[in-house]
Amino acid sequence: MKQGKLVPIHNVRKADECIDFLLNRPRLEMVGLGMLYGRPGLGKTTYARRIACTRGYVYIRLEATTTPKTFAKELLQSLYLNFGMGDYLPVGPCNTLYKQCTRLLHAHEDTVIIIDEIDYAFRYPGLLGSIRDLVDQTLAVVILVGMQNAKDRLNQINAYYFDRCNYFYEFETISKDDIRLLTQEMMNCPCPESLVNYIHFNAAGNLRKAIKIMHMIELRSKMNPIQAMNEINAKLGAL
Ligand SMILES: Nc1ncnc2c1ncn2[C@@H]1O[C@H](COP(=O)(O)OP(=O)(O)O)[C@@H](O)[C@H]1O
Ligand SMILES: [Mg+2]
Repeated sequence: MKQGKLVPIHNVRKADECIDFLLNRPRLEMVGLGMLYGRPGLGKTTYARRIACTRGYVYIRLEATTTPKTFAKELLQSLYLNFGMGDYLPVGPCNTLYKQCTRLLHAHEDTVIIIDEIDYAFRYPGLLGSIRDLVDQTLAVVILVGMQNAKDRLNQINAYYFDRCNYFYEFETISKDDIRLLTQEMMNCPCPESLVNYIHFNAAGNLRKAIKIMHMIELRSKMNPIQAMNEINAKLGAL
């Protein structure tokens, strides 16, 4: 299998539209806040990480232990690296760190910041509020990435915040066309339409499962196809 690719499946194209929309918005009238959300295994994190790497966006993943201060430190370090200003060890009070972030973002208006696992911030009003302040006080595009109920949660927690979000996209289940494209771009062996159908049926819309099945097919590609499918069928219960 070819690794590290961002195959341009439907969800990738739609998420690109979200970022493009926000980058091209009337900046003085609209804030650059957007949200990508959806069920697990549909490619949200892969999109966020790989697009950040190829287009020079900032990617930050929240964790259960993230606080407003650790977030500000991580953001500041990422901004320094991103703007070619080298390594930086942020110190000082939380408020000063946010002011430094804001100052850097004023100087780099086209910055895109992707914040993965935003669901962790839902339990922490201080963290959610700090992110909103950055959105309100700068022209940066900030993309929140969350689980399938992230949009509803945001609305429940803070309707004002929700209103400021100018683009929502829910990642969809993986289609047969997506599977065909994935097999063409990632597999090292030919994958006839019958196998595309097989992967599509067994993955049941989940990209993570589709990748595992593709990998198993590839490992067994030198076997007789019927024997290979029987073996894979026997293993699918474990996915
Ligand atoms: N666009 C893509 N191109 C290639 N592989 C992908 C792509 N999106 C997801 N994957 C694969 O699918 C797996 C699951 O995706 P992930 O981004 O972890 O989903 P989510 O964050 O929605 O739970 C990843 O580990 C990666 O191998
Ligand atoms: Mg994820």
